[in-house]
Amino acid sequence: MNRLVAAQVVGRVMRSGAYSNVLVQAETRELEPRDAGHVRFLVFGTLRHLVRIDRVIAGYSKRPRVDPQVLDVLRVAVFELLETDSPPHAVVNGAVEAAGTLGGPKVKGFVNGLLRSVERFGDPSPGDRVERFGLHPEILAALDETWGTEATDAFMEASLLPAVTIARRRRASVEVGDAVPLVGFPDAFEVGLSVDTADWAVQDAASIAVGGSVPLSGHGPILDMAAAPGGKALHLYDRLSAQSEDGSRLVLADAHPKRIVRAQKRLRQAGWYPDWVQADGRSAPFVDNTFDAVLLDAPCTGLGTLRRRPEIKLRINPSDVRRMAGIQAKMLREAIRVTRPGGTVVYSVCTVTAAETIDQVAGLLGRPPAGIPGQAWGNGILLAPHLTGTDGMFISSVDVS
Ligand SMILES: C[S@@+](CC[C@H](N)C(=O)[O-])C[C@H]1O[C@@H](n2cnc3c(N)ncnc32)[C@H](O)[C@@H]1O
Repeated sequence: MNRLVAAQVVGRVMRSGAYSNVLVQAETRELEPRDAGHVRFLVFGTLRHLVRIDRVIAGYSKRPRVDPQVLDVLRVAVFELLETDSPPHAVVNGAVEAAGTLGGPKVKGFVNGLLRSVERFGDPSPGDRVERFGLHPEILAALDETWGTEATDAFMEASLLPAVTIARRRRASVEVGDAVPLVGFPDAFEVGLSVDTADWAVQDAASIAVGGSVPLSGHGPILDMAAAPGGKALHLYDRLSAQSEDGSRLVLADAHPKRIVRAQKRLRQAGWYPDWVQADGRSAPFVDNTFDAVLLDAPCTGLGTLRRRPEIKLRINPSDVRRMAGIQAKMLREAIRVTRPGGTVVYSVCTVTAAETIDQVAGLLGRPPAGIPGQAWGNGILLAPHLTGTDGMFISSVDVS
């Protein structure tokens, strides 16, 4: 049953553009925690190794075309046979049973035969790093050029591993119980899968570092320019609450109405009811020199989040990097325009390409925000799974003159 659910989720991620982390959560809500964990393991593992898995299936299949749903069952089973210690007979039997719900005896025979071959002969090719990491070769080459192959391999290997659930304690008074504090990230804790949203906000430590970087010391307005789904905005609100403010000087904006609606719902659940401005940050509807601080947590290619959304690497191509870099440059120019002289723009992206990170803030008065673990990089700081055990994130605190 778990294998069939996992195969269906993989299929929907690959064919409907759904996000794996969102879909897995939705599809496992009714399952026992152990089964939900198993489905999660199968889905993320399969997506992480999909390029190799598909090559192996194509190598053993004698059919010119395999039904997409049967292919998904095969993908999950081949992941288990090649990458895990699951008993092979259980894997093959489970897949044959799942295939039986999709077709007749012929389908079962095909799945059985192919998986028996994989079980017996394994993967006949050693593969290479481009296949192992599953990232577009041009993007991998760009990372190699920026960092060198050793650091790129370290990043990509760490991105193949699962991530634990991290949450931010919303107030110092919240009882932490069994939650484990993360060294270097105040208020970040490793938690179980579900937490109470009144007390906790599920966020990776790298995101918590971004929310902690925005200066709130003055009295002027603060803009979160790409605020949906509201994770970092809620952090700013909680920080203001801790200094006895009501959050009314926070201005939340985003370009996408549906994302704003979802964010509003999420923030209401967390006990906050802010107004939103629907606005394209490339031509922001705000007067020059308005804000004390602007958070530009910009739309990006998301390569820093591969541990949680491995499918991103299968979808992204070099033109996405160029397109995102173009949007980021326009939004950053606007962020600086609407910030008052002496104010600060915090620029962050959960990705690691040079074009979206160091190149964006080159030539600006950017620096790493104080007190954040990571590696200084250009005019900012890099957090990454192989460096800080977090998602990949670039943060630069830009002084506006
Ligand atoms: C990385 S997400 C922001 C995450 C958010 N800061 C948080 O912590 O929950 C980027 C956001 O940028 C928004 N966005 C994309 N293009 C935009 C544009 N041209 N102007 C404003 N927002 C945009 C997306 O809708 C998305 O919500």
